[in-house]
Amino acid sequence: MTDSLDPNVHPDAERESEIVAAESQIYPPAEEVVANANVPNYLELREEALKDIEAYWDARAKEFIDWYEPYEKVLDDSGAPFFKWFVGGKTNIAHNALDRHAKTWRKNKLAIIWEGEDGTLRTFSYFRLWQEVNKFANVLTSMGVQKGDTVTIYMGRVPELPIAMLAAAKVGAIHSVVYGGFSEQALADRIADAQSKVLITCDGAWLRGKTINLKDIADEAIRRSPVVQNVIVFKRTGQDVRMEAGRDFWWHELMSLPVASTNFDTVQMDAEDPLFILYTSGTTGKPKGVLHTSGGYQVYIATTLKYAFDVKDEDRWWCAADPGWITGHSYIVYAPLILGLTSFIYEGAPNFPYPDRWWKMAEKYGISILYTAPTAIRGLMRFGDAWVKRHNLDSIRLLGTVGEPINPEAWRWYHRVVGREQCPIIDTWWQTETGGFMITPTPVVPLKPGSATLPFTGIDADVVRENGESCDPNEDGYLVIKKPWPGMARTVWGDPDRYVDQYWKEFEAQGWYFTGDSARKDKDGYFWIIGRMDDVIKVSGYRLGTAEVESALVSHPDVAEAACIGVPDELKGNVIHAFCILNAGKVGDDTLVDELKKHVRTEVGPIAVPAVIEFVDSLPKTRSGKIMRRLLKAKVMGKPLGDTSTLAD
Ligand code: PRX
Repeated sequence: MTDSLDPNVHPDAERESEIVAAESQIYPPAEEVVANANVPNYLELREEALKDIEAYWDARAKEFIDWYEPYEKVLDDSGAPFFKWFVGGKTNIAHNALDRHAKTWRKNKLAIIWEGEDGTLRTFSYFRLWQEVNKFANVLTSMGVQKGDTVTIYMGRVPELPIAMLAAAKVGAIHSVVYGGFSEQALADRIADAQSKVLITCDGAWLRGKTINLKDIADEAIRRSPVVQNVIVFKRTGQDVRMEAGRDFWWHELMSLPVASTNFDTVQMDAEDPLFILYTSGTTGKPKGVLHTSGGYQVYIATTLKYAFDVKDEDRWWCAADPGWITGHSYIVYAPLILGLTSFIYEGAPNFPYPDRWWKMAEKYGISILYTAPTAIRGLMRFGDAWVKRHNLDSIRLLGTVGEPINPEAWRWYHRVVGREQCPIIDTWWQTETGGFMITPTPVVPLKPGSATLPFTGIDADVVRENGESCDPNEDGYLVIKKPWPGMARTVWGDPDRYVDQYWKEFEAQGWYFTGDSARKDKDGYFWIIGRMDDVIKVSGYRLGTAEVESALVSHPDVAEAACIGVPDELKGNVIHAFCILNAGKVGDDTLVDELKKHVRTEVGPIAVPAVIEFVDSLPKTRSGKIMRRLLKAKVMGKPLGDTSTLAD
């Protein structure tokens, strides 16, 4: 076992006592909810699906997705762990999300309702969205973007972001969306890795009444990764930006050219053709580009959304994530549109200008399902119940959470105050790599606060020991997935070995996918996620690799070496605590702490800024030179150091 994958590192005393206290509290579903559920027999279906996953996914692929040409085979496992799904099938996700709806009664239905932080309202019917996407697909084509090319998208939360994604999908290009909160080096690394010749960005983005200079950051990133030949800039803030002649073009000008016609022939994609790359943090080195493909991903996200959130045509769905993360890709953009729903998108900060911003919008737009993260719930809970209660939230019928374990206290507040004790809470455990929900209740599943409950239909999840034996009830172990599923990542972009190493090495003999998480199952088979077992830190639900923050710190001229760990935090789940060894003659004072924080902010982004920076003379290392972060963590948290036999010094 590697040093970083030590299950003893994580048992966090607080999570432990939460689990013990909440394990026996059951919230059964209301009869009415079960009676109206899309899949009332979900619990039986779970048993049924696992008996024959190919038959199960075959049926879902036919139920939710249109195929230009049918597939010949549901699952090809001959090249495992490089699984193929719906082999030979031809499809395009933009066809299922838009083209087909624009021809039915849904033509007039709202696909997107968007509210800007400044209160601007924009709405798109399915017809209008389809036209905008066609226009932009023509623009991309006129710039030479073709099937198989990569396009990097670095924008604020504006409707043009999903439009750009869908247009890329339409032309058969592979999009790589980089979260607008990332900074220069993070963007530069992602552009270079994907080798994108086209970058789509905004002049700026609004956040808390201030603007973020996205175009400036993009310019610097391109300077560092000069593969980009063309930049398309959507004007959102109207701030002054530098436009490089011949390279940079305004979105609105391109969209008014004759070439931007509203007709576009959607490119037919093979089920296994790449759809997008999304960079996420792993144990070592730079973020890896997780690759999802055209066929299986669609089937998986449509099924999971339909079942878990019980979505219906009359719903107004609000996934409050950012489209730049997998949650946004799957559940703001693609799955809601495939299912023909109305998806609400809000541009800015949840508490701007007042702490009731979210509740005000939920009331105004009659939101029926709200899906967010524990860190947001805790943040809003802090302002007290009155901000919620001044709004009529009767339209909300379901609530959801994702991104990190939810503490039962936040769960109960969400349930009691936002959900009026009537809304089931759908706690969805999943990852960038899984494409969609993996362990989740549906409204018919009895709930326990803090547990993501049971694996989804067709998902064979378990908690096991290092040797692969299943753990006993309430024993902590490795969370693994034993059978493939259609939404699984297919590889790491440009680095298939890393895909195998990262996910399939730990349980190679058994052929299981290792999630990187530790978990336990209770006596009822309910899953309780404990946390990451590797060097990934979840800060406010954002996934960060210690390596990313460390390399930002050592890129500062005063820092010789750095190590980062995650330390539990009431609001953010975890915060980063950094240890730095300075170069000879440098003084570690408060000014340098501030300077280093600023440096991390410009290199990686605000989410990566350490809460604490501590200057040290040495770092604990193994004899092979690997930093033993668990010792640093034990020290910070005042815990016993455990096994130190591999410590060099
Ligand atoms: O540790 C788990 C945690 O988030 C990780 C995946 O992060 P990311 O790829 O950024 O995807 C987040 C959104 C899907 C997991 O390995 N995680 C995610 N959802 C939950 C969770 N931990 C506990 N409960 C959840 N519901």
